[in-house]
Amino acid sequence: MLMNFELDKCRHIIIFGAGHGIGFALVQYLHQNYPRIQVFATYRKKEKAQELIELSAIESQSIKVFQISPTEETQVADLAQKLKDEKIKFDCIINTIGILHTEDVKPEKSIKDFDPKSFLEVISVNTIITALIGKHFQNLLISNGPSAFVALSAKIGSIGDNRLGGWHSYRASKAALNMILKNISLEFEKKRLKCLVLPIHPGTTHTELSAPYAKNTSYQVHSPLRTAENILDVINNRSIQDTGHFYSWDKQEIDW
Ligand SMILES: NC(=O)c1ccc[n+]([C@@H]2O[C@H](COP(=O)([O-])OP(=O)(O)OC[C@H]3O[C@@H](n4cnc5c(N)ncnc54)[C@H](OP(=O)(O)O)[C@@H]3O)[C@@H](O)[C@H]2O)c1
Repeated sequence: MLMNFELDKCRHIIIFGAGHGIGFALVQYLHQNYPRIQVFATYRKKEKAQELIELSAIESQSIKVFQISPTEETQVADLAQKLKDEKIKFDCIINTIGILHTEDVKPEKSIKDFDPKSFLEVISVNTIITALIGKHFQNLLISNGPSAFVALSAKIGSIGDNRLGGWHSYRASKAALNMILKNISLEFEKKRLKCLVLPIHPGTTHTELSAPYAKNTSYQVHSPLRTAENILDVINNRSIQDTGHFYSWDKQEIDW
């Protein structure tokens, strides 16, 4: 049976990594354009999530915020249990959490720069968090209609499209994220969960993550709000039969 995921029909959406950047823009965009939806939002660093915290204080019925550190499995599990106890079911789960660089992690120009500790940190943030959300939140997805489970990937995580090399850890973590999502899509299909499971490349966007590189790119650089709109356009009205594919912000399919 043909079935589409429709934002107009959604009641509850959770955004992981909503303290700033694309995650916060998704909260803002949903709040402004889909006022019927109750948006749940997680953040880690309070000092970077001030706008989100202020917005949720004003709009306390429609935006609920939770401070968690999701690289720790117990924190993902505890949040899932708390929401389950409140009998919340989600139409859509979006994970936007990701790192390219931190104070200690720098994207490698060459394999000579490869550092096992940095690689493990990048994998733990860019790959493992989505797996943990899948593990602990799958039972919180609605089962009586179409749902969506999305994580923000990156085109440069495509193995088939890789013609430049470099940024070993980031590329590998996103390729591994794509495999986790493909696997989840197959598992959900077997369970007859009507869920659209997608990695989405959000496009180059003005955020902390892209700041050191955006000025040198030949790509179009979008505002976070435009990117939020683009991401939601990729999933809105999409058939759940498209589950397990890799899409770009402009709805083009990307080679794995
Ligand atoms: N911006 C781009 O041009 C671009 C392009 C392609 C793909 N992407 C992908 O899009 C997603 C969103 O990126 P963005 O541009 O919005 O980046 P951003 O502004 O740097 O936001 C990154 C998010 O990840 C969270 N985060 C980072 N480390 C974390 C950790 N250890 N534990 C928990 N949360 C952590 C941050 O929260 P805290 O600050 O609280 O830790 C923040 O919410 C990422 O997956 C990124 O790879 C972005």
